[in-house]
Amino acid sequence: LIAFFAPKPLAGQHVLVTAGPTYEAIDPVRGITNLSSGKMGFAIARAAVEAGAQVTLVAGPVGLPTPRGVKRVDVKSAQNMLAAVMHAASAATVFIAAAAVADWRPANPAEQKIKKDGSGRPPELQFVENTDILATVAQSARAQSGALFCVGFAAESQNLLANAQAKRARKDVPLLVGNIGPATFGQDDNALLLVDAQGAQELPRASKRSLAQALVAQIAARLHVEPP
Ligand code: CTP
Ligand code: CA
Repeated sequence: LIAFFAPKPLAGQHVLVTAGPTYEAIDPVRGITNLSSGKMGFAIARAAVEAGAQVTLVAGPVGLPTPRGVKRVDVKSAQNMLAAVMHAASAATVFIAAAAVADWRPANPAEQKIKKDGSGRPPELQFVENTDILATVAQSARAQSGALFCVGFAAESQNLLANAQAKRARKDVPLLVGNIGPATFGQDDNALLLVDAQGAQELPRASKRSLAQALVAQIAARLHVEPP
């Protein structure tokens, strides 16, 4: 009942969110991933639905329940995530890239399990860089025209403000969100640094749920102002 009377600042919007890690196969039984829990992205998807948006959540391998009202697309690798995002992006008006996408994948994943060869020498893995999903979407005509508002996250272990500002410019997105350390992977709370063309603003430490609500409100406010 309370939710029914709450303001719906994202009514009419279609929000696309990526969340969680990706998994890059080395062979059929092994792979490379990272410690992203997906909690922040799932909280954002939930907050966006509660704000009245239609929401598509492209999720890497995580064991989290799907927030009520969210359309979830499960993916494994960064390449799968890119394909799912490009498919959904054409209908979206907001893209929030909260996933911790693997930067590299094994170049030639083995079709069969790699066996020890008895020499004592480990296999040498070659890597290739994954396509930057956020930067790809941000370069699309709809993003460049302002029809699709793109929000990035920045995972940094040092110099958050400078690195986040540089990342915002490099990815060409209007809003970049930095996690204020220490490492927040898997935690239930976080603190965020919002970096846009005007400068930086801190969302102080709180639960990921309330930070997601605050972030959604910040995004909604930016949708209703004309770009400079
Ligand atoms: N991202 C993405 N696709 C990738 C890599 C990153 O969409 N292949 C997105 C993330 O979801 C995040 C933003 O880009 O929103 C920044 O990710 P981050 O790992 O902090 O930056 P990178 O550009 O990968 O640079 P680096 O890891 O070297 O700092
Ligand atoms: Ca990265």
